[in-house]
Amino acid sequence: ATLNINQEDRKPISDKLIGVFFEDINYAADGGLYAELIQNRDFEYTSKDKKEWNSLTAWTSKGSVRVETANPLHDNNKHYALLGSGQTLINEGFNGIAIQTGEKYDFSVFVKASSASLFSVRLIDAAGKSLSNELVLSATSRSAANGWKKIEKVLTATATVPDARLEIKAVKVASDEQLAVDMVSLFPQKTFRNRKNGLRKDLAQMIADIKPRFVRFPGGCVAHGNGMDNIYNWKHTIGKLEERKPDFNLWGYHQTKGLGYFEYFQYCEDIGAEPLPVLAAGVPCQNSAHNHATGLAGQQGGIPMEHMDEYVQDVLDLIEWATGDKSTVWGRKRAEAGHPKPFHLKYLGIGNEDLISTAFKERFDMIYKAVKTQYPEITVIGTVGPFYEGSDYEFGWDFASKLEVPMVDEHYYVAPTWMINNQRYYDKYDRNKPKVYLGEYATWGNTLYNALSEALHLCNVERNADIVSMTSYAPLLAKEGFTQWNPDLIYFNNTDVNPTINYEVQKLFGNYSGEEYIASDLTVDNPSAEIQKRIVQSVVRNKENGNLIVKLVNLLPVETTVELSNLKIQGSVIKRTVLRGNPSDKKAVPVSDRWVPNEDKIILPAYSFVVLELIPPFAT
Ligand code: AHR
Repeated sequence: ATLNINQEDRKPISDKLIGVFFEDINYAADGGLYAELIQNRDFEYTSKDKKEWNSLTAWTSKGSVRVETANPLHDNNKHYALLGSGQTLINEGFNGIAIQTGEKYDFSVFVKASSASLFSVRLIDAAGKSLSNELVLSATSRSAANGWKKIEKVLTATATVPDARLEIKAVKVASDEQLAVDMVSLFPQKTFRNRKNGLRKDLAQMIADIKPRFVRFPGGCVAHGNGMDNIYNWKHTIGKLEERKPDFNLWGYHQTKGLGYFEYFQYCEDIGAEPLPVLAAGVPCQNSAHNHATGLAGQQGGIPMEHMDEYVQDVLDLIEWATGDKSTVWGRKRAEAGHPKPFHLKYLGIGNEDLISTAFKERFDMIYKAVKTQYPEITVIGTVGPFYEGSDYEFGWDFASKLEVPMVDEHYYVAPTWMINNQRYYDKYDRNKPKVYLGEYATWGNTLYNALSEALHLCNVERNADIVSMTSYAPLLAKEGFTQWNPDLIYFNNTDVNPTINYEVQKLFGNYSGEEYIASDLTVDNPSAEIQKRIVQSVVRNKENGNLIVKLVNLLPVETTVELSNLKIQGSVIKRTVLRGNPSDKKAVPVSDRWVPNEDKIILPAYSFVVLELIPPFAT
């Protein structure tokens, strides 16, 4: 094959092309990225989360512990446990609490008891043996507001195990009384950037290593919810943890909202990514044929029109919360939560894969116009609905184009052959229409072949990154043994993080990006179209350092030599990264070296993705 790079023919492309989409699916939030180690810390699990769940799920007790709701800590957090003298509550964490010897863990709890009471706290194993120091604490709280008192202490682990438990024992409680316990929490002190109420360090770092330019959150289906009451309400996710409003997760578990909008924005800031919150377009997941999560028949309609003004105001309030100063109502709430300076907010998603029904259109129109009028600097990203094999999002595109929405969100989950056979997919897109955010895509699998077909697709997307502004693979995270959706990008359990080959592809594109697309063509010396479309290239320039990035994907079972027709690389020092293996491999990591070619050619191994970083000056 021959690669011809025309350095004079270039166009600016998006500098936000590679991002991530975090959805609370597969236990991505509670039990996942959110570093809380106690499951059902607030006793708010219900059968709405999962049929067999209740307030004491994940807890076992010695003695019959009662759950009460009178005079709760907060109306959003009604349930708490009552322990009589000698009674014990044990939390199993999310299938075990992983601890490491010598590490410190921040323990906190709300308790209430009117007479002198003592309780103890420690980490234990299945047999009850201590795995930490033991805290003996006084619960007497006569003076505290509402009777509840918050206690914060540190536990130090004395063993490294994946399956510790947390034990709380009522050591001394008056015979006519019971000790009330709520919001039992345990966090490793080492969280990402050591933030309180923080994120799991290894997972947060693995995501950051992609160098995502943006993070879309919190869904997906989770954003528009299963039914009106389940529409994700960002206001329920900020402020004191004990006052946040938990809800069922339509993927079949529970959302504490401990990982809420403040934490999402903070994480984006920490990793230098643009936050991209997605709010429902006033309609829940109503697309019966497409509701992966519930399989339920569709519920047409949306928030009643008489409540839409209120909903539109919630959307506007989010922008004020993120960007307003301390003198604004919502800006002040953000400042009081610990972030006096505004967060960055440039993008706002409205809607997720919604059926482009009348109910949707009316509500989207109201929200979009209000945001555009009040915050013209915000780029609203609309949705063009669900993708079906053979559909072309016609209704969504028509609607968004007429409204002149600046960008729309497309989703597709496809077979590798779709990517191989649709290489000109975006070339035909009208450059005068809304820009594209490819908010969810993946091929159905985590093999090298899948990952290479995604690399091939991203090469074609780079060529079209004047119209495709952003992309994010989906879903991002999946807890092993707790997945509702496969494939995913990063698998994890309580102790380990297992990135896929698809992740390696995302990371290579994130780390070797450019803001200028350089025209190139690749001539394959074989008449077969099937062979020709399995070798693909993309060339971009990183404007900051002037480096030229050449990406080449070889989906053929044979090694292929690519001659360079008008770029001299012989004798240059090139950073070369190669991802290769057998097509069915589920593990492969890229290998980088400094390569000094002795000819103007590159050899692509069979089934490989090769990235070359060339440092100027370039001889032509
Ligand atoms: O990524 C999984 C799901 O796929 C998302 O929640 C939804 O938007 C899409 O249908």
